[in-house]
Amino acid sequence: MSDRYQKIATSPMGKSLFSALGLPTPVTLDRQAKAEGDFLHGKVLVGAASGSTLLGAVTRILANSSAEICCQASAATASDVVTAAEKAGKKTTQVSTGKEDSTRFKALVFDATGISSTAELRALHDFFSPVVKKMENSGRIVVLGTPMAECDSVSQAAAMRSLEGFTRSLGKEVGKKGTTVQLVYVSKGVDAELDSPLRFCLSPRSAYVSAQVLQVGTGKENDGIDWSRPLDGKVVLVTGASRGIGEAIAEVMARDGAKVVCLDVPQAAAGLEKVATRIGGSVIAVDITAADAPKAIADALEQEFGGVDVVVHNAGVTRDKTLGNMKADWWDMVIDINLSSEERINDELLARNLLRDNGRIVCVSSMSGIAGNFGQTNYAVSKAGVIGYVQAMAAPLAEKNITINAVAPGFIETQMTAAIPLMTREVGRRMNSLSQGGQPQDVAEAIAFFASPASVGVNGNVIRVCGQSLLGA
Ligand SMILES: NC(=O)c1ccc[n+]([C@@H]2O[C@H](COP(=O)([O-])OP(=O)(O)OC[C@H]3O[C@@H](n4cnc5c(N)ncnc54)[C@H](O)[C@@H]3O)[C@@H](O)[C@H]2O)c1
Repeated sequence: MSDRYQKIATSPMGKSLFSALGLPTPVTLDRQAKAEGDFLHGKVLVGAASGSTLLGAVTRILANSSAEICCQASAATASDVVTAAEKAGKKTTQVSTGKEDSTRFKALVFDATGISSTAELRALHDFFSPVVKKMENSGRIVVLGTPMAECDSVSQAAAMRSLEGFTRSLGKEVGKKGTTVQLVYVSKGVDAELDSPLRFCLSPRSAYVSAQVLQVGTGKENDGIDWSRPLDGKVVLVTGASRGIGEAIAEVMARDGAKVVCLDVPQAAAGLEKVATRIGGSVIAVDITAADAPKAIADALEQEFGGVDVVVHNAGVTRDKTLGNMKADWWDMVIDINLSSEERINDELLARNLLRDNGRIVCVSSMSGIAGNFGQTNYAVSKAGVIGYVQAMAAPLAEKNITINAVAPGFIETQMTAAIPLMTREVGRRMNSLSQGGQPQDVAEAIAFFASPASVGVNGNVIRVCGQSLLGA
């Protein structure tokens, strides 16, 4: 649905009026318009703490974009950036970043893996402080660190944890310009696995994802990938695909090259057919809580495609009441649809070996499952359970070369949120660093990132698609 406040705030007259009144003026976010392999345009400033290990991977990845790699001429590590970029076949532009310099950056990438103690955290200030005000709208900031468990000392582990506080605070400072900040912890020795996460974090696909922490580990190597159509030749099942976020997921998956199997309840068959026809997909009309649903879904996938590559568990419902007023059937229904049915479907697909090698499971949780919400004990139980399920399944699935991850949407502009009373809706929509609600496409893009065959090192992660909502962590 449309956000009238944002339309007025971004109009030429509204802009000055809203700014005079001190009201938030949300910028129009850059979003991925079409299938495209290039992920970043404009200038990207790259920096590193001394002794960092990821400059080679970072510049190699950036060399595959049309972005111009820049470094701070005065930085002690400037020559490291230049050398790494040269190896990747790209020239580096050295910039002064002084107050008088008018260069504007689309992205900042800082490799903090070299920070070996809390005393070295000053490196963050030195890199970011001179340039943070020099960002274009819808900018992208990425900080790279080492997972605490892999640190060589207590002081380094503390410093790596500090990066979370830094990225979350910075996200709040730069969000008003539509800029996002992510922290990516990269396991030692990881290189190719960084491609997909870094591309996602730097591209318009992560328009409504901010202040998130991603963990990237090792994964089985992948043969060449067509970055403009990463899901080419893949079969993707999307539940709840007849409308809302599910419809957007189906569309984004098809845009990225997948054959999409759209699933929804039989009552939604008409809408489901429309979506499937539009994207050249097929249909399964079934209630996922029905006793025979797992078998029916597995049979359909086996007969038509011989298996499935990606399963997206998006179907979900709310039945809100405060706990004292909640009937047991609403409690059961929400948990069964949002959580237990997902387990049963996965169990059937895995038992019959229908989820193929390098397969993906992506679940849809919710901010309620992280922060809790008034009147939503049943929903929050189901959505927190989704997170627990993803975390518990990550290791056993890794053994089969399958990953499982979740997205937790915040306020997304759908029929569900359109039904919220005006004032509550307005508060929900603005209470985030980007001062606006997300679009179904934003959730779909994060799911497509997890679903990509290139996201081999991304397993057991939960990212919020909430514009850095003020609620929850
Ligand atoms: N809209 C938001 O702001 C928001 C925020 C957080 C999380 N989510 C989650 O995102 C997902 C999609 O939400 P939405 O806003 O698009 O909701 P929606 O109500 O528009 O769509 C949900 C879809 O799931 C289908 N569905 C429900 N029960 C089913 C069943 N038993 N079997 C098969 N299909 C079933 C519905 O028919 C519907 O098409 C849900 O899991 C929801 O909890 C949404």
